[in-house]
Amino acid sequence: MSNIGSYLERQASFDWSVAREALGWKEGELLNIGHICSDRVCASGRADKEALLWEGFGGKKAVHTFDDLRARSNAFARLLVDEGLTPGDRVCLFMDKIPSLYFAFLGILKMGGIAQPLFSAFGDESLKVRLESAGTRAILTTGKHVKKVRKIRGDLPALEKVIVVEGDPAKLKEGEEFFDVEAADRVEEFPYFDGGPEAPSVLHYTSGTTGQPKGAQHVHSSVWGQALTTSWVLDLTDDDVYWCTADPGWVTGTSYGIIGPWALGATQCVLDAGFTSARWYRFIQDHRVTVWYSAPTAIRSLMRDGADLVRKHDLSSLRHLASVGEPLNAEAVVWSEEVFGMPFHDTFWQTETGAMMIANWPGMKIKPGSMGRPFPGITAAILDLKTNDPVTTPGQVGLIAFRPGWPSMFRAYRNQPDVYRSKFVGAPDGASPEELRTNPDIWYVSGDRASVDADGYYWFVGRDDDVINTGGHLVGPFEIESALIEHEAVAEAAAVGKPDQMNMEVVKAFVTLHAGYTPSDELELDIMNFIRKKLSPLAMPQEIEYSDKLPKTRSGKLLRRYLRALEWGEEAGDLSTLEDD
Ligand code: PRX
Repeated sequence: MSNIGSYLERQASFDWSVAREALGWKEGELLNIGHICSDRVCASGRADKEALLWEGFGGKKAVHTFDDLRARSNAFARLLVDEGLTPGDRVCLFMDKIPSLYFAFLGILKMGGIAQPLFSAFGDESLKVRLESAGTRAILTTGKHVKKVRKIRGDLPALEKVIVVEGDPAKLKEGEEFFDVEAADRVEEFPYFDGGPEAPSVLHYTSGTTGQPKGAQHVHSSVWGQALTTSWVLDLTDDDVYWCTADPGWVTGTSYGIIGPWALGATQCVLDAGFTSARWYRFIQDHRVTVWYSAPTAIRSLMRDGADLVRKHDLSSLRHLASVGEPLNAEAVVWSEEVFGMPFHDTFWQTETGAMMIANWPGMKIKPGSMGRPFPGITAAILDLKTNDPVTTPGQVGLIAFRPGWPSMFRAYRNQPDVYRSKFVGAPDGASPEELRTNPDIWYVSGDRASVDADGYYWFVGRDDDVINTGGHLVGPFEIESALIEHEAVAEAAAVGKPDQMNMEVVKAFVTLHAGYTPSDELELDIMNFIRKKLSPLAMPQEIEYSDKLPKTRSGKLLRRYLRALEWGEEAGDLSTLEDD
């Protein structure tokens, strides 16, 4: 019997109090994710249970119990308080997937700080934009990544503390501090911050079509939705050894790579040693992983490397597989059944939703290629592209939308109330953020297109905007274009996604050059490297096309969708009509 039991029964009688009860949380009780994921597990008699089974490059290994998690996160919380940080301060985590990342994440939450995890492969510009937007007061990083922080620190007056948590203390520069949690004393007691269910917890930056990335603000009560979906969809139980392959720089790596599983007291594995299929299989084999949550790009890479490699490993411990982040092709589901003896279960959600919204769970009939059905308690619909009314015809393509009110929903885009408001349809003018997140008569619109079939299964079609999804990571065209025109040769730029077998999409840039520059392969390489360093390897264009002129509307708005359609071999429309705004 799966944790979810009968879907129809669950759905019929669902109330979010089920999520609180499932976690054993009672009204009036302390609500702090840091506490729930460590102290509370210890208090339930599982202090000595393995919480984190970690492997890094070069065969480095570590095992940490829930008691370690408790004491080490307390140590980070204590450090931050001693450094003068107070509840509500943004504290950035900028490091690889090392154990300190996990301790510090919980520690920040314990002292009431807002954890702002950023992908460690970000270059200085990507980092700066996000730290500036968040008004980040402290950053925790490592010797490996601190150089990027040094480059931009002078531009960030709010950034008071730079704390290096791994590396050589002798290499620190003035104004930087060193803190090695494993060498420091354990901290047995820490008075957790309790700001109630609506206290801010995690701030994740996500990319949109226009403007710079937006900071989606989550709250401590998100744990209710995250823990329940971890239990019902990922099917985690106390005996499982769970592996989420995502980096906590992205929402999957926090909602399901930290919070949900540890709130339930599950043992998690972390591999911080890059990707090869053989390495991944060995990791599953060595740790006897039972539940595995990954992403289509990785699954496609595993497929490319073939079934023989699978057979060379003992993967008999696996009992449940799930996927998120991009469309999971039907072939991948079928392949997985053949080689692992079980399908990958697709799940759909977003940084903004904080937890799974549409999913395939154990025991549910899977239709390969479909994202599944709405989680109990989630009211989903496909809205007509013109009228915004829910469609009633199965198969009609429209926008995926949800009724607000689920616990892990984002509460704001930091400092951008109008952009937040624009994500909802049907709201009265001037509705407050509180109304927007609780009004059961309006819709939160995801920005994705899909259809729903007669059985209530959702089928992904594509994004409704210009955001590029490369290997499950969203990159904003505007951010890339802004960086491109900072290159001395580039006058104008457009960035779009082009099809890619492995990553679904990769970035392609169209550029016009300043007078005096001529197109060449060397210049292309130089521009690519410029973006890789400034933004990230994900944002780096895989191809640059030189052009004399970029397509624009009469008012000068860049026509990315025209360029995109050309890349995808789709009907691009008549440019003369596209030029009308
Ligand atoms: O376009 C959808 C795609 O990823 C977007 C959300 O990205 P992000 O906020 O970074 O969160 C990623 C992990 C939750 C969505 O708007 N996406 C996510 N899951 C799926 C998907 N596209 C197709 N199928 C999915 N299962």
